[in-house]
Amino acid sequence: MSSLTFLRGVTVWEIEALVQFLHQPEEDAASWATNKGLVHVKIGHLVRTGKEERELLARGAYRGSVQILREIEMAIRERKTLDVERIWELRFLTNAILQQIIEDPNLALRLASIKSYDEHTLHHSVNVCVLSIGLGVSLNLPESLLRELAVAAILHDVGKVALPLHILQKSGPLNESEWRVMRQHPVKGADILSRLSRTNRLPMIVAAEHHIRYDGGGYPPTGEGWQSHPFSQIIAIADVYDSMTTRLPYKQGVPTGDVLTHLREEKGKGFDPDLVDMFELILFAVEKERCSSA
Ligand SMILES: [Fe+2]
Ligand SMILES: [Fe+2]
Repeated sequence: MSSLTFLRGVTVWEIEALVQFLHQPEEDAASWATNKGLVHVKIGHLVRTGKEERELLARGAYRGSVQILREIEMAIRERKTLDVERIWELRFLTNAILQQIIEDPNLALRLASIKSYDEHTLHHSVNVCVLSIGLGVSLNLPESLLRELAVAAILHDVGKVALPLHILQKSGPLNESEWRVMRQHPVKGADILSRLSRTNRLPMIVAAEHHIRYDGGGYPPTGEGWQSHPFSQIIAIADVYDSMTTRLPYKQGVPTGDVLTHLREEKGKGFDPDLVDMFELILFAVEKERCSSA
């Protein structure tokens, strides 16, 4: 297919039907979607997969994820509740991205270069998700764990919706008292996600731990000898990479080489040294691909 667009109001049923169809496409995708009555999913002409097609599919799922995150944020701000159905939709979309990254691991960094100046928090969440998937795929994690990692990563900053908008949208650096409020988002996120499911606590754990350093520093404060969940440590690297490379109203994006220098300096201090090494390999692989296609 040449394009995939999710329109506002897309339902779980539509995403479910699409994912099933994409596993075994037996007819032209655009006519299939029309015949099936998928009114919120617009599909271009079928050309069959390849690197470009994979990227288009992943970018469609990326945009769909941003839209669902936007709606989750609005719903929490208005009604203070977390719509579990929307989380299922996110699960389908992150799985669609995951399937493409398994086929082409370098796609993770290419997708993470999608930035939004106006909605950087939403794009940040999806970028942290795709980068975490990239790291997880490189670590050869089984697909069942990669699916859980993707959902936990995309929700890691959900606690920010509980913070005052004037702090979140401030067009300059935060002062000390504003930082004190900002540092509450892991605990607020864990509180929101604690209502999600009794059986899957990973999103809650990751939301709580993603700013805790490898050496136990960071926030929220931890007890002696604390070790964060491996998913939290993967997401912490994806988080710092995306945050540093993103341009904000009051700061330029940091070049990849400088982020790498920072990660190397923080090996065994801020971040798990093995995960930093693996992330470095991913960056090199993408750079090599870029040079060979230039
Ligand atoms: Fe965060
Ligand atoms: Fe973050």
